[in-house]
Amino acid sequence: MKRMLSGIKPTGQLHLGNYIGALSKFVEYQDEYEVIAFIANLHTITVYQEPKELQKNLKDCVALYLACGLDPNKTTIFLQTDVMEHAQLGFILCCNTYMGELNRMTQYKDKIAKDEKNISCGIFTYPTLMSADILIYDADFVPVGEDQKQHVELCRDVAIRFNNKFGNTFKVPEPLIPKVGARIMSLSDPTKKMSKSDETNKGCVYLLDNLKTARKKIMSAVTDSIGIVQYDPENQPGISNLMQIMSSLSDKSFEEITKEYEGKGYGDFKKDVANVVCDTLEKIQADYNEIINSNKIQEALDIGTKKAKEMASKKLNEVQIKVGIEIK
Ligand code: TYM
Repeated sequence: MKRMLSGIKPTGQLHLGNYIGALSKFVEYQDEYEVIAFIANLHTITVYQEPKELQKNLKDCVALYLACGLDPNKTTIFLQTDVMEHAQLGFILCCNTYMGELNRMTQYKDKIAKDEKNISCGIFTYPTLMSADILIYDADFVPVGEDQKQHVELCRDVAIRFNNKFGNTFKVPEPLIPKVGARIMSLSDPTKKMSKSDETNKGCVYLLDNLKTARKKIMSAVTDSIGIVQYDPENQPGISNLMQIMSSLSDKSFEEITKEYEGKGYGDFKKDVANVVCDTLEKIQADYNEIINSNKIQEALDIGTKKAKEMASKKLNEVQIKVGIEIK
């Protein structure tokens, strides 16, 4: 069975972009692949997080993994910090990655462009820790949204270089980017990615938003004056984004959506998108409410951590011997 690995960084509440671009795919794949879906909590502290809030977000993130349909008996779920081998391999890979490569990472460049003074070393080396997360499990595939593709490509380069230098050690993984929904855009500014750090809070639908709020955000989504529901991201980014959301959550193709709304106004379309989104959130939230105060969270983490540790410690040991930092 091929192995798939991915993670989410709970720097805030998970949103519809995380669900469509990543989490819903982990759920889809768990019957066909061996899925490892962890919580990237070390990655969160590359930017300061209020500790109490972070703890809440971590717990919510595990609960949402389960509420969205991940089954801990099929999918390995754990916190990155509970498998310390990630950080150790991260350092080893840091020593096998060039500054020039990290300097080219778009996310890093964007952060620098916004706030050069407050950039931590952690943000700069973040992709090497991400490479360790992936390579330590010999993952075949890494299902992620479009914004993480460059990091997975770097991971491939690092793996190939390491294998050439120290002998075949790591599987070289493939990024798996969904055809539809790989980049859900902000509802208030459809030229920007929907993101946890949405300052206005209007462009991002959180999985735990109350349904009235979520509906309002969709109904107020920025569109255009063309008046035709069609997929044209360049000229109609707002409508195209709503089509991506509808298509991902309903399995209708863009052609089917365009046909269905021929001659109808954007209001009707938005109302239906809001219905599809609210149906999805309602189901997730019902399960989340049942899980959040139960022992299901700890049970899932106990099963997942044990499995992950076994795999990770074996790989780290092999790496350390190859690099020569262990006495054999
Ligand atoms: P993070 O937490 O920013 O995002 C988690 C996943 O959600 C996807 N995503 C989106 N997809 C579609 N539209 C959007 N607007 C959108 N926003 C986010 C991301 O592409 C990602 O798949 N570095 C990673 C976490 C990580 C990781 C890993 C992932 C750490 N180690 C190893 C894979 C493998 C991150 O910050 O994702």
